[in-house]
Amino acid sequence: MSSYFDNFDIKYAVKANPNPRILSILKSEGLGIDASSDMEVRLALDAGFKPDQILFTPNYASKKELLWASGTGVPINFDSIGQLRLVDGKVPHTISFRIKIDYGRGEFKGTTTSGHDAKFGITEAEAISAYKIASEMGAKEFGIHVMAGSNVLDPNHTGRVASAILEVVKKISRSDGIEFKFIDMGGGLGVPYQPEIPELDLKAAFGKAHDAFKKSFEGRMPAFCIEPGRYLVADSSVLLGSVTDVKVQDKAYLGSNISMNTLLRPALYGAKHHIVLANRLNDEIKGRYEVVGQVCENTDRIGTDVELPDPRIDDILAVFNAGAYVSSMASNYNGRPIPAEVLITDIGEEVIRKSSTFADYIRNYV
Ligand SMILES: Cc1ncc(COP(=O)(O)O)c(C=O)c1O
Repeated sequence: MSSYFDNFDIKYAVKANPNPRILSILKSEGLGIDASSDMEVRLALDAGFKPDQILFTPNYASKKELLWASGTGVPINFDSIGQLRLVDGKVPHTISFRIKIDYGRGEFKGTTTSGHDAKFGITEAEAISAYKIASEMGAKEFGIHVMAGSNVLDPNHTGRVASAILEVVKKISRSDGIEFKFIDMGGGLGVPYQPEIPELDLKAAFGKAHDAFKKSFEGRMPAFCIEPGRYLVADSSVLLGSVTDVKVQDKAYLGSNISMNTLLRPALYGAKHHIVLANRLNDEIKGRYEVVGQVCENTDRIGTDVELPDPRIDDILAVFNAGAYVSSMASNYNGRPIPAEVLITDIGEEVIRKSSTFADYIRNYV
């Protein structure tokens, strides 16, 4: 990014993986934080991030949550004019609005977060009055934000989102004389979930965004911000489990202790992860398996038509790209535990999250 922008900021989207050890590693790399709830803001503050390194982007937040966030000094990226009005008298110094541009694109419908039918943000038509109202309510510094969708591998996407948001910037600046301190393009940088899929051409992606910025600003550009989650952590982790049963019926079902309570993405979106038998990597592929878990839902499928050697009980199942939106989406559904997390570095290995226990499962029942 530094070859395209003098003034840029990378804010890690905590929702991808909120493990405090990961936050601390990313902090040491100089990144900021994109937080989507008051708890994520607290996590970031506890990890030592300064309020101005955090952008709080909630949607449909309660007045209580917004007022609390406002009191921390963290800039708020409002999802509606109504949400801004909830903090009347306590408007943060720095605010932005999440804009719902007409164009949205994500890997799945469920991960497309702008355009028709997106629940997020204010429309382009509302944007001009939104900044006018924010200014009248006392906001002093302004940013603008867009998040068009998640896991996009097409480098042209970044340019398209940049051009769309810059059109909105132009209209607001012309009408209200608002000067933007930052333009935040959100997250969405894609990672290949299968070995045969090529990686995102990051240089081309930022090059396209840069071209759009260059056309819009002759002199000083606002800070160019991105909020990657998946791109930073997805391929850092492999989810391990073991084979617990094999049934050959209408299909060949391979059951394991990796269930939808641990890996929700396939059930939630139809996401496909690369899956192998880690202890049989050199064995001949013998068939196609429906890889399923232990939860009592017929949607509890981890992979479909997965090509594997003939599986045996206790073989080790490895699911790749498990660092993003896996442990952060995990639950104890069906009384199944959330697995431990182990950090492996040059220095050694360390448990950075313990597996959940029966005591954790019942902790809050009274
Ligand atoms: C506002 C916002 N920023 C950043 C992200 C991170 O997206 P990704 O993990 O695709 O980079 C999301 C994901 O939903 C988001 O809603």
